[in-house]
Amino acid sequence: MTHPISPIFPVTPNLSQDALKTLVGQAALKYVVPGEIVGVGTGSTVNKFIDALATIKDQIKGAVSSSEASTARLKALGITVFEAADVETLSVYIDGADEIDHHGHMVKGGGAALTREKIVAAQSDKFVCIADESKLVDHLGAFPLPVEVVPMATARVIRQFAALGGVGRVRLKEGQALVTDNGQHIVDVTGLKITDPVAFELQVSQWPGVVTVGVFAFQKAQVCLLGTSSGVKTLTF
Ligand code: 5RP
Repeated sequence: MTHPISPIFPVTPNLSQDALKTLVGQAALKYVVPGEIVGVGTGSTVNKFIDALATIKDQIKGAVSSSEASTARLKALGITVFEAADVETLSVYIDGADEIDHHGHMVKGGGAALTREKIVAAQSDKFVCIADESKLVDHLGAFPLPVEVVPMATARVIRQFAALGGVGRVRLKEGQALVTDNGQHIVDVTGLKITDPVAFELQVSQWPGVVTVGVFAFQKAQVCLLGTSSGVKTLTF
């Protein structure tokens, strides 16, 4: 599939990755609908968006957040945070990605927030992905695929990935298995080439003990604001 690419910001050569994240975080403001609640993802790029959102906080009702970390940042900046369960639909969800392909399919979960991210994305009409150009790929699978798993199932899930040619490892934090906001573990899987993201997400989501697989094919992006050395480009899918 092809997608139109149009620069919306002037050429900005030699910007650091951090500066590109700031640019796309700011560019995402134009998708925020005044008077509404905005869906907010997780990660270093989203942190830039949250900082930008704080400058227009009086123009929005608040946010639904995808992680404890984003909730803390939103609240610290004076933005009201609503529970996802108390809001039926959101017009827009803004989040980063670890990889995004040319169809808007993504790998997410590098920040271990994939389950809540998928939930908030599912209740949103539009997913706007904000990312620097290193995240754009032809095929998903180079970034280790995060999968949130109930702890008693991790060994079995790792064996199931081995049968697909992948190597799974439980993510550690300070020497212990990382515990997500939902009390589960993360298995990161390397060695996968995900040629059919829809089929892959469907398959892995059915394995017992898998809470969420980090492939976002059903909750794919409709727009990607990509930070590049020639400015912020808008990809539509
Ligand atoms: C968190 C995510 C993030 O969106 C993803 O890891 C990208 O993060 P960053 O903007 O820090 O590169 O999925 O679970």
